[in-house]
Amino acid sequence: MIRAAHTDDLAQFAQWSDGSPDCQFSQAQLSGYLVQDRLIAIVEQGGSLAGYLAYRQVLDEAELDQILIAPSARRLGLAFDALLTWHEALKAQGVVSVHLEVRQGNQAAMSLYQSAGYDPNGLRKNYYRHGTTVDHAVLMKKSL
Ligand SMILES: CC(C)(COP(=O)(O)OP(=O)(O)OC[C@H]1O[C@@H](n2cnc3c(N)ncnc32)[C@H](O)[C@@H]1OP(=O)(O)O)[C@@H](O)C(=O)NCCC(=O)NCCS
Repeated sequence: MIRAAHTDDLAQFAQWSDGSPDCQFSQAQLSGYLVQDRLIAIVEQGGSLAGYLAYRQVLDEAELDQILIAPSARRLGLAFDALLTWHEALKAQGVVSVHLEVRQGNQAAMSLYQSAGYDPNGLRKNYYRHGTTVDHAVLMKKSL
């Protein structure tokens, strides 16, 4: 389930960021998405916070900047369900396509996006540099 994020959610969201290239949003960065109404809370059935989705939207295009599920709530289908619900909400607002960029070595995210209907449409070579690790960025797009 998803809902609009609240200011009270931010501290919890930021605690899940581990500084890796895949989960690195600070509370200040998340706050920037919140004030623009571009931050969504992902909640479990009982209502407890399980993750978030941060995005941008310009006219009829959206860009998924981050989706993150708390480590203890992964592999329950929450990210997949959140993406499908979010896509429907975007579509209802007239958005026709969603774009994203993902680290090629992030197997979980690559599989998630492919199962949610995103197709690769570009590659940024050696885009991610973290410590001694270098990885490509895969660009993906989904038409709604
Ligand atoms: C990527 C992430 C959001 C997936 O969240 P999740 O709620 O665990 O994913 P779901 O349970 O909805 O999984 C949906 C599908 O994605 C794929 N998937 C998810 N986690 C996976 C993993 N660890 N390994 C391989 N495939 C995986 C599978 O195809 C899965 O379907 P299945 O369970 O039927 O096999 C989560 O692992 C996460 O928060 N990672 C850290 C942040 C991150 O990398 N975000 C994406 C970059 S912006």
